[in-house]
Amino acid sequence: MLFEQIATGGCRSYLVGCQATCAAAVVDPEVSQIDRYLALAARDGLRIRYVIDTHTHADHFSASKQLARKVDAPVVMHRESTVPTVDMRVDDGDMVVVGKLRLQVLHTPGHTRDSMCLHVEDRVFTGDTLLIGGTGRTDLPTGDSSALHDSLFGKLLRLDPATLVFPAHEYKGRDHTTLGEELAGNPRLQVRDRDEFVALMASLNLDMPTHITEALRTNLSGGKTVAQMLAEAAASVPFMSMAQLRDRIAAGDTELVVLDVREREAWEAGHIPSAKLLPRGQLELRVNEELPDPTRHIVTCCEFGRISTLAAATLREMGFQRAVALDGGMKAWREAGYPLEAAPPRH
Ligand SMILES: [Fe+2]
Repeated sequence: MLFEQIATGGCRSYLVGCQATCAAAVVDPEVSQIDRYLALAARDGLRIRYVIDTHTHADHFSASKQLARKVDAPVVMHRESTVPTVDMRVDDGDMVVVGKLRLQVLHTPGHTRDSMCLHVEDRVFTGDTLLIGGTGRTDLPTGDSSALHDSLFGKLLRLDPATLVFPAHEYKGRDHTTLGEELAGNPRLQVRDRDEFVALMASLNLDMPTHITEALRTNLSGGKTVAQMLAEAAASVPFMSMAQLRDRIAAGDTELVVLDVREREAWEAGHIPSAKLLPRGQLELRVNEELPDPTRHIVTCCEFGRISTLAAATLREMGFQRAVALDGGMKAWREAGYPLEAAPPRH
């Protein structure tokens, strides 16, 4: 078995592969690591056959849909999952066959209704059902502490105590543990009585995870995160440095259109000399009158350099093949002490 654990902050994902057949699966992929999964698989001569989420994540952005598309593999989740982009729904007792490896599905509801663990050879991917020294929380959508108690004591912890535990989260840098170690030392597993366990889980008062609404929105729908939208836009446009733009303006470059896509008040307060105002919200509707020549060299700018990247990508999509985005924004421009122009007073 080829095995890689990939840490992204507190998130853990896994690449597990069969040496004999070169088939592999990725478990709980995170959106910023797509290139890494592909590179690790390539390094080990593996073909990713399945992309598996142990549950609907509320605390990180799943890369399942995107990764599965790239490698032409199905997204696998438990049948209780409501995510529409799942290709293969599995049930308790099913096996996902990865070459000669057998990933045995254990339905372990509790953290979420669609939570499952995957047992393969000497180890188990526990998702957020069992963490090192903890368990998944049960206060997020579809969480159920009574079900978690049953999943742990009635199912997961009945596996061989020597089984290695690889969770979907680990915040203290530990690699793995065993079921036996958890049974002996995990504080939550010392509370064997169901009612006491439920009371314990209810008393935790945990903070909401950051980005929970965005994570649930995108993970449940297969939609894109804001970071993804920005990354895709950034990958599709060239940029111009602030120094380059300053020099071109100083040299009187009349070919270049500086397009400020902020709102009018921001533009009026101070903009790059000669910058034309066309707020991002009106870009598509006013582009024909404001930018009649699609061959012009256009550099978009905004306050922080993000909206301008989206605007440049939109312009490119619309056929402005020389649209570029400013590498930076007006905040950085002002801080650099570069020239500014204020709008003439309005009458
Ligand atoms: Fe989770």
